[in-house]
Amino acid sequence: MTVRGFAPLTGIRMDPGYFHFDERSEFDASLVADVLRGRRFGVIFRDVIPVATQKELCARFWASPALKRRTGEPSYYVGAYHWNKPIGTYLAETAEVADDVMDVLDVADSPWYLFRDELASELAGLGATLRLAEMDGAQACPALIRAWNKEGAYSLEPHEDEAQCRDPRQAGFEVQRVPDFEVCAVNMCVEHEEGGRLVLWNIRPDDDSRRRLGIEHTGFSYPAELLDGIEEFRVDVRPGDVYIFNGRHVHAVDATSGNRTAVSFLMGFADARTVVTWT
Ligand SMILES: [Fe+2]
Repeated sequence: MTVRGFAPLTGIRMDPGYFHFDERSEFDASLVADVLRGRRFGVIFRDVIPVATQKELCARFWASPALKRRTGEPSYYVGAYHWNKPIGTYLAETAEVADDVMDVLDVADSPWYLFRDELASELAGLGATLRLAEMDGAQACPALIRAWNKEGAYSLEPHEDEAQCRDPRQAGFEVQRVPDFEVCAVNMCVEHEEGGRLVLWNIRPDDDSRRRLGIEHTGFSYPAELLDGIEEFRVDVRPGDVYIFNGRHVHAVDATSGNRTAVSFLMGFADARTVVTWT
């Protein structure tokens, strides 16, 4: 893609003390709460999903009657995503698929339940609750389980997760209040063959940059050429890892071979006492 005519990306760059990942070998919900509160950029918990759980979750994913292929993308998924669509469509798709999503997640030692239980306890200590985002009594999808296998330098193009919270077709959806706080991405890796590192750039693009690129309400995608020269780092991801980071920063997944399957959702404070999750 040519970027002639596009001005350099502008936005917020965080200081080096913030722009790094912490790495732990045991899950610690207090670090997740730090990411939610903007006190920490990201953390990866290594090898915290038992192998038998990874395998069972994966088997259920690939055998799910709700397995779909994302239109125009080499990506398989179970679940629904709100990105770039009217809120009514997302909530209707979610209602249809939520039971199938829970069938995939409801395995022994499920990372989805463990993560949420421990985070809910941690947040309770801070006077906050954790729940699915809602609108008019309908709930957001509990998780999106997906496998990316697109070829090229990036199997998932550089993007950020904040712009999608401002889609005017989703006015009134609770996630529209999350950009007042932090927009955080959660991923739980259950299958990973080769490559597919998480790439993070030290920039939170502003609306001027989004408008110039025509991605004001999608945040997808940022041409790689515009990211040249911006500080970045890459994180190796392996099956069993759980990671969370501030999705305001541009991020991507680099070249992957084979399946890279993860349970994912977004989350953030919708108000000082409520953390919501959605997909
Ligand atoms: Fe993302």
